[in-house]
Amino acid sequence: MSTHTEEDLRRDACRLVSAMRRSMRPGLRWYGVEDSIHGVPLLGLTDLDATQNEKPDASGLAGCLLHDVGTRLAHSARVARQVDRVRHLLDGRWKAVISDAAWLHDVGYSPRIACTGFHPLDGARWLRDRDWSDEICRLVAWHSAAGVEGALRGLDQELTVEFERPPEVATNALTWADLTSSPQGEPWSVGRRIDDILRRYPAESIEHRAIANAAPTLWHASRDIQSRLALETGVA
Ligand SMILES: [Fe+2]
Repeated sequence: MSTHTEEDLRRDACRLVSAMRRSMRPGLRWYGVEDSIHGVPLLGLTDLDATQNEKPDASGLAGCLLHDVGTRLAHSARVARQVDRVRHLLDGRWKAVISDAAWLHDVGYSPRIACTGFHPLDGARWLRDRDWSDEICRLVAWHSAAGVEGALRGLDQELTVEFERPPEVATNALTWADLTSSPQGEPWSVGRRIDDILRRYPAESIEHRAIANAAPTLWHASRDIQSRLALETGVA
């Protein structure tokens, strides 16, 4: 009798599909292939790949991938607006990409991309395989204390090996923007956002446990950005 669980099979399939996608580079695309392995799409987004002559910008890509995923697109738009308030805190290389990362930080929730079920890793891998910049992929991979959830899912090694951590201030800026944006795209306080996630997910779920475990890190990131903003305005 096989000792493999569905989760094991899906994880193996994810590794295989990721390796296949990497082996396709550069330039090769398997348009029209709709097969999947244990529910993991071989390509994902074949229609977008096949119809886009030019690479879409970040907001356009978020629109394509998230318009039918609950309120994720409205949330991502708010995160991009929040990031605009703090991007000046970053140095040039990170300042230039963080708005795009904000638009794209949750694309891993798209069913056309979702592979492991761990959205930061799924999103970052998909973007990497389509030549989005290293900085954007790293921000997507590590936003909002993703390492904590990655450890609970047994995917922290993949995250660490595949994506270097961005500078702390850059991760903190995106995390603060994510935590001050409601699921529907309204500006929220950090406390309200964390409480909302804890309420929405059952106590035994990975999502609930991840946020509970990550709360100190999330608060640290948010306070770091808020104190940098306060220093600028002279408000202690
Ligand atoms: Fe988010």
